[in-house]
Amino acid sequence: MTEAPAVENPLLEGLGQRRTPEPCVLVVFGASGDLTHRKIIPALYALALRKLLPEKFAIVGAARSEWTDDEFRDQMEHAVREFGRDDFKQDVWDWLAQATRYISLDFADETKENDLAGLLNEIDEERGTRGNRVYYLAVPPQAMPTIVREVGERRKSEGWVRLIVEKPFGHDLASARELTALLSEHFTEEEVFRIDHYLGKETVQNMLALRFANGIFEPIWNRQFVDHIQITVAETLGVEGRAAYYEHSGAIRDIFQNHALQLVALTAMEPPIDFTAESVRNEKVKVLKAIRTPAPEHVVRGQYGPGYIEGKEVPLYREEEGVDPASMTETFVAAKLLVDNWRWADTPIYLRIGKRLARRETTIGIQFKRAPHPPFEDATTEELQPNMLLVHVQPDEGVSLAIGAKVPGQGMRIRTVHMDFLYGGAFRTELPEAYERLLLDAMLGDQTLFTRSDEVEEQWALVDAIVSGWARDRPAFPNYAAGTWGPAGSDELTRRDGRAWLRH
Ligand code: BG6
Repeated sequence: MTEAPAVENPLLEGLGQRRTPEPCVLVVFGASGDLTHRKIIPALYALALRKLLPEKFAIVGAARSEWTDDEFRDQMEHAVREFGRDDFKQDVWDWLAQATRYISLDFADETKENDLAGLLNEIDEERGTRGNRVYYLAVPPQAMPTIVREVGERRKSEGWVRLIVEKPFGHDLASARELTALLSEHFTEEEVFRIDHYLGKETVQNMLALRFANGIFEPIWNRQFVDHIQITVAETLGVEGRAAYYEHSGAIRDIFQNHALQLVALTAMEPPIDFTAESVRNEKVKVLKAIRTPAPEHVVRGQYGPGYIEGKEVPLYREEEGVDPASMTETFVAAKLLVDNWRWADTPIYLRIGKRLARRETTIGIQFKRAPHPPFEDATTEELQPNMLLVHVQPDEGVSLAIGAKVPGQGMRIRTVHMDFLYGGAFRTELPEAYERLLLDAMLGDQTLFTRSDEVEEQWALVDAIVSGWARDRPAFPNYAAGTWGPAGSDELTRRDGRAWLRH
């Protein structure tokens, strides 16, 4: 009898089993930018280390900076060493470096684009990448149309093309529609991969596993058993030198419109019939469509004042580099959302997102209704909270269920305890970065974790409706101190309904 091969650590079995993408060239537009440096390049290194990239592969960095191939490779090496999650391995790096080229492009200059086409042909010849292309648009929205047109008009007949489009996908519904219309002149929806990096996070995908791979949650995942849902996307970071972008975006466009609403969609959606891109996205878009425009008193805006983050004094938003000293840009939004469907009618989803909050924490809490008739005296259950299923998206990734338990000893005293599942403990592996998964999925042509045009439009429609109400009033900014849980109005939002944020 042949024995099954020994598995070094049985808990690691099955992790990381993926197809390898077909040969291709990945062209990164915006190669000198922060995102390329912090996320894209370190993710490519992590994929190379795990041998998940195709053997016949090349990276082309494209940006305005006048760099040589070697100068770009130096930048990349620096990025991998500084932001990579793995130890630096010379042989892996050498492989990636020899697969990398750089081209200085002025997107308005058509002759330069010819150079790109020439370079790509040359790479196809040398490396056998067969005309397959992944174009990553890590550029500001104003640079997108030219690139889309250039790339679209010059697409080759052989090979496949995929276009990864970074956020922001437009600035409002009208501009998002314009961008979609432009994309559809040159590409099919199946060729467009709109990134929302939250969907690449393991813990976000685990919401689907938790809900639909277990029989015990779905029967109670509805208005009959759930009192409310609360979602927090809290950052300790400030604007981090991105004022030029953030001043026009604010928290509502930066996080609420995309990451936060995607968390709502995954938490509230109906079970998809299968785990294909169309089925999952069909269900998500139904939830997004069903979100009622919140009344003005159900949305709270904030902007941080001076304060302390981890004991360090930090300035107010209006004094951050590049920020208008009279800026009315919000760095915090809390909202009470209602989803008008049979599953969720009258069950609020409280959402709060913000910068410079008390700690970095993204959580999704499902708070269940209290037991209808606990046969205990009130004094015995004083320390008992209602059951809550808390998904820790980050950090301390895991899931925890708050339940009541008897305190050991004489008599009956019941207190809340937590049943915890922690990724680190259960799987003994570090979680991959979201961009690793998303880059690989795009190369494989799998759109499940990318947002479809109708989802993005629903998200914008909601944001436009909220923002249009804002033009009428001017809140007294700043209205929360850095290092706290946001403005008083946020606590008021839940308190009015007799509820409370989990940490406030
Ligand atoms: C980005 C926002 O999309 O997400 C940033 O533009 C924000 O402002 C970041 O800091 C948060 O991502 P993460 O993965 O650190 O939660």
